[in-house]
Amino acid sequence: MTAQIIDGNALAARIRAEVQGRTDALKARGIVPHLVIVLVGDDPASQVYTKHKVNDSEQTGLKATLERYPATLSESDLLERIRVLNGDSSVHGILVQLPLPKHMDAHKVIEAISPAKDVDGFHVSSAGALMVGQPGFWPCTPHGCLRMLDEIGYDLKGRNAVVIGRSNIVGKPMAMMLLGRNATVTICHSQTRDLRAHTLQADVIVAAVGKRNVVTAEMVKPGAVVIDVGMNRNDAGKLCGDVDFEGVKQVAGWITPVPGGVGPMTRAMLLVNTIEAAQRASG
Ligand code: GUN
Repeated sequence: MTAQIIDGNALAARIRAEVQGRTDALKARGIVPHLVIVLVGDDPASQVYTKHKVNDSEQTGLKATLERYPATLSESDLLERIRVLNGDSSVHGILVQLPLPKHMDAHKVIEAISPAKDVDGFHVSSAGALMVGQPGFWPCTPHGCLRMLDEIGYDLKGRNAVVIGRSNIVGKPMAMMLLGRNATVTICHSQTRDLRAHTLQADVIVAAVGKRNVVTAEMVKPGAVVIDVGMNRNDAGKLCGDVDFEGVKQVAGWITPVPGGVGPMTRAMLLVNTIEAAQRASG
């Protein structure tokens, strides 16, 4: 059997078209959805990511402002800027790009963002809202993964899902989202003994470790859905995920590629959260 590919690029394009429609409707009411992206320092990867976020926003009609500050910016000045953005009703979403310079406490900075504008879904309030099933903003990567499962019409009820990775922004929220859909969820991680024993039971595997070949063919139940959140480089320098794609696609029922899988979905879900923030603010 060869797995069907879940095309993240195609689904993300459809989501962007939906966002564009919602943006047009808000603009017709005189509201311009506005995302402010704060970049401190000149980390090369962060510069690329934030540029993508601005371009994606502008292509879907959202206003995006990239605010750049030198790495020498003090934490208190950053907190003060966030306080001003929180109080600015023309700003609907605030995203502080991570990592921050070492002299800053990233947790403190994220907690300074108003939960109503936390389009990254990184605030403790956002995590808590997800946990208790209340409206909030869901982190973009796991939210995108869930949308991919919805796209293939996958009914999670009573299914075994294994999430590999326990980060606050992917693994843990992913587990909550799957649990919210009545899946039975196991969270594994780099310390898990006999990972294969867990994954072989799984109807859905979400791999979010950041290491190549964490999931190989002999770890996958035939027909399972395999979602690959990893972003790594292989020996030839080519982008690859956490899953041995060529091997696993012979066993799985569905699989997401890298690139062209979860990555574009993460970007699309930021737009969804931003338009949602603007809609909620405008009543
Ligand atoms: N750095 C890498 N990915 C992200 C992200 O999704 N959000 C923020 N704020 N910083 C990041």
